[in-house]
Amino acid sequence: MIPKQTIDEIFDAAIVEDVVGEFIPLKKRGANYLGNCPFHNEKTPSFTVSPAKGIYKCFGCGKAGNSVNFVMDHEHYTYPEALRFLANKYNIEIEEEELTDEQKEAADERESLYIVSNYAANYFKKQLLESDEGKAIGLSYFLERGFREDTIETFQLGYNPDGWTAFTDEAEKAGHNLKYLDKSGLTIVKGEKKFDRFKGRVMFPIHNLSGRVLGFGGRILKSDDKAAKYLNSPESEIYHKSKVLYGIYTAKKSITQEDICYLVEGYTDVISMYQAGVQNVVASSGTSLTEGQIRLIRRFTPNITILYDGDAAGLKASFRGIDMILQEGMNVRVVLFPEGEDPDSYAKAHSTEELKEYITSNAQDFIRFKTSVLIKEVGDDPIKKAELVKDIVKSIAIIPDQIKRSVYTQECSSLLDIPEQALINETNVILRKNIAKDAKKSHNQNQDRNQGNDQEIPDDLFFPEEFQGQKEEKSTGDLQHWEKEVIRLLVSFGDQTIQVELTNEKDEKVKEEVSASLYIIENITGDGISFENQTYQKVFDFYDEKLKKDELPSHQDFINNSDQEISQFAIDIFSTQHEVSPNWGNFKIFPVSEENLLTIAVERTTLSFKLSKVKQLILKNQEQLKTEKVEDQIMQLLKEINALEQIKKQLASSLGQIILK
Ligand code: CTP
Ligand code: MN
Repeated sequence: MIPKQTIDEIFDAAIVEDVVGEFIPLKKRGANYLGNCPFHNEKTPSFTVSPAKGIYKCFGCGKAGNSVNFVMDHEHYTYPEALRFLANKYNIEIEEEELTDEQKEAADERESLYIVSNYAANYFKKQLLESDEGKAIGLSYFLERGFREDTIETFQLGYNPDGWTAFTDEAEKAGHNLKYLDKSGLTIVKGEKKFDRFKGRVMFPIHNLSGRVLGFGGRILKSDDKAAKYLNSPESEIYHKSKVLYGIYTAKKSITQEDICYLVEGYTDVISMYQAGVQNVVASSGTSLTEGQIRLIRRFTPNITILYDGDAAGLKASFRGIDMILQEGMNVRVVLFPEGEDPDSYAKAHSTEELKEYITSNAQDFIRFKTSVLIKEVGDDPIKKAELVKDIVKSIAIIPDQIKRSVYTQECSSLLDIPEQALINETNVILRKNIAKDAKKSHNQNQDRNQGNDQEIPDDLFFPEEFQGQKEEKSTGDLQHWEKEVIRLLVSFGDQTIQVELTNEKDEKVKEEVSASLYIIENITGDGISFENQTYQKVFDFYDEKLKKDELPSHQDFINNSDQEISQFAIDIFSTQHEVSPNWGNFKIFPVSEENLLTIAVERTTLSFKLSKVKQLILKNQEQLKTEKVEDQIMQLLKEINALEQIKKQLASSLGQIILK
């Protein structure tokens, strides 16, 4: 845990143009800085940094944030990781709040494993490049495979000498504890005996997102039928195979820029494609694809293209991976390489242009791919064809997004010549089954609530919601809009004054200056109104607290708020509109100047917010009324609705609206 005070200190120190400028070249343009956006591919710069507001905003892709957000987005750090990075940059010491003994021990153990792994990577590299054995056996092997020296450097490739304890001895001499050599799997310890796991192998270090070495793959060089071609580090406190992708560190930047990730099978596929100029490529390395790996990719892009070598046995096994990607709501395409070729061999035998061209022109969406693989077994057999259709529909039903589902259904319909409606029906059967399954699950979880599990299942699952309940949708939509407007005015203009008409003790109408924030806050807390949106409520409460302490919060207090939700919201507001809409002028009969534009905006927005809140309460009560059976309760609800209707009329008439019913 980083103490709040330190977080504030970091935010104060982290000047946005300074932080952004460390990663991308910026040019001064008037009050702002301009550069090429690192989050999407662009030729003309639209990435703007505003020192005055302390934020950046890309007018091409819409990304915006403060200095901490930038480090999070650019380096894919978590919030605490980004804070630590900045603390380090600005020499701010983080006094950690006390850890428990167990937490300390676990952290020490992880750190020790990182240190040992890093030492090993450097040792292997040195052996490869500097020792006679390494050069003669390891380096010559890599060069023969066509890896350039800069590529070997980029991937930190290495060599573990062929003696039984060459590495282990050296590591112990350098002061590394055998306990961690063992835990990292670099050394195999059996009773009194110990030896190098990777003896005589060329080494591929596996890095995490920030480039730290987690584990290794080691390839044998002799053709020995008994030994495995590749050996991998065992699971450890730092190496969790199911969450790691080989190449993610070298690929992450390019994945973001190209907005697509290529997934291959092996270490050498990643390296050869990278060397050929396709950098957005990662490998699951020997394990079948896991959910954790897919989610890792999803942090960078929703688009995955799987590159398979032409071996037929692996194809059907790939279907599971495809379904998993679809389930995560991502888009998946597949490229098959010619018989006997893998991305590594293809990249070596062709130019960069040919490789890129092959990938783009052979990428099939999953329906075409699955169909083309399965159709070979179908022939003229109608039963087999029906099975094929069901198989594909099953994959379509997995996709969470309805619109994508319908697009794929259309494609499947025309590809297999099956009426679309038949496919929709089949999809709905599967979706209903899934809902029933979920219902059963949650029923089993709440056994104390003794209800039946035959939940009501809607008829048309394929296109639900969109065509239903539009009325309610609109009224909640209104409320969302006004909630946001109130908060936007509060945060942007709360420090200014407006002129409101008040009635004094003598019942005379007088104009008086009040602060906009006071007006908004008193109006809303006075009526006991809360916000539906939790972030808005937080912003509102934060403002209110400050006022109570006689302080006026500044824009920076919001933009650099240690609460991520508050700061993200403020960034959204300040990076877009920052003016009172001139349209407010249309509501008034007398001439409108800049100042009373704000008055009108504040008054009308506050009223409109209240009005939509009241409308929503009325709707809620009416809904309750439909199912309420207790007579007293019904009377109570009716009374409330009546009262709310009165308020609604008042508010509406203040706004100059006429309510018909
Ligand atoms: N693999 C493994 N253990 C094995 C074989 C393979 O962990 N015994 C993993 C490795 O990550 C390997 C990937 O599966 O990179 C693909 O295997 P394969 O196609 O056999 O190897 P290539 O990557 O083609 O390796 P090479 O070109 O060096 O033979
Ligand atoms: Mn190969």
